[in-house]
Amino acid sequence: MNLTFRQLETFQVVARHLSFTRAAQELFLTQPAVSIQIKQLEEQLGLPLFDHIGKRIYLTQAGQELYAYNRKILDLLKEMEMVMGELKGLKRGRLALSGVTTTEYLLPSLLGIFRQIYPDIQVSLEVTNRAHVLQRFANNEIDLAVMGQPPEELNLTGEPFLPNQLLLVASPSHPLAREKKIPLSRLASETFLVREPGSGTRMALEKLFKEAGLSLRIGLELGSNEAIKQAIQAGLGLGVLSVYALSLELTGGKLVALNAEGFPLQRYWYLVYLAEKRLSPAARAFKEFLQTQAARELLQSRAGLYRAYLETRSVKKSLPLSRREQEVVQGIAEGYTEREIAERLRISPKTVTTYRARVMKKLHLSHRSQLVQYALRTGLLIPSWFPTVPESPEFSRG
Ligand code: PGA
Repeated sequence: MNLTFRQLETFQVVARHLSFTRAAQELFLTQPAVSIQIKQLEEQLGLPLFDHIGKRIYLTQAGQELYAYNRKILDLLKEMEMVMGELKGLKRGRLALSGVTTTEYLLPSLLGIFRQIYPDIQVSLEVTNRAHVLQRFANNEIDLAVMGQPPEELNLTGEPFLPNQLLLVASPSHPLAREKKIPLSRLASETFLVREPGSGTRMALEKLFKEAGLSLRIGLELGSNEAIKQAIQAGLGLGVLSVYALSLELTGGKLVALNAEGFPLQRYWYLVYLAEKRLSPAARAFKEFLQTQAARELLQSRAGLYRAYLETRSVKKSLPLSRREQEVVQGIAEGYTEREIAERLRISPKTVTTYRARVMKKLHLSHRSQLVQYALRTGLLIPSWFPTVPESPEFSRG
């Protein structure tokens, strides 16, 4: 047999899409070029790989067997390339990254900086919904993904790197916009505009209602955050969206966040990968990059708009803490060390320790993670980068 890698690669893409046209698009080839490769492969193997029925194609049994072996061969090849790259000490190669829909407000700008640092890493980013990202992992088609909490079923490792709050929003003219402490039961009679099934945002909202024994009244199902925001502004109902999708609308006064029980819903952005897969140098570079000062600053600037918005709501004024104490809590919750906080506030590290102890006593807290939870609950910690996730029973899988 005289198989070529090119034929095997082409076969894999055709088999994945079950379409010559889509495979040709992905491979930047013409459709006849794809057909020739498959024909040659079938001749080499002496077996047909696809059945053509009407306009559709299906894998024959030989096709299915080849698909399984081929995947192992291609994975091994990739691993070999990776090891060779590592031996050369080069940060180069390809990074196949997927992000759930809402990461469109984060990932493009992060990748902009990443590409400046690693110009030799070719990045492909696919923005799609949660269900599809999980499918890509199940097929071992991506290196990394950014998504909400990963499910336990797949053997995935998820590292939280950024808090993400989901806000309940309405148009400023909505009757609930002026109300305070709206009970969750009151929301059961409202119409909601929700994302498509498979969206993590929708799942989190459904979970909240289900756990409260309430049913969710869905007015419209829309496949994008932008469409949902437009529909809310048009007065078609309420919606739940990530704070990262809302910064402009909130600061511009086009939408308002409602003061309702259970909101904001606390989620996190996770960097996710297959637990058993060896990360490529490119994937490792991205993982390390998320911890760098450059990435951290960018994420903080994204959160800045929300910070400004919350300040206008004077959340902080209602807290039983002095301004200095609030600043210390915020610093701790953001993951800064006491020394860094001291430098930022121009006070001594000892004073920071004193403030922290005083706050813990005042709030009857015994653990740093409780302080982080407090900061999140009260809005003192506005979504911004911080390195660890609070260990808390409230931190549930979703
Ligand atoms: P989504 O996911 O963009 O698919 O709704 C967001 C999330 O998981 O938090």
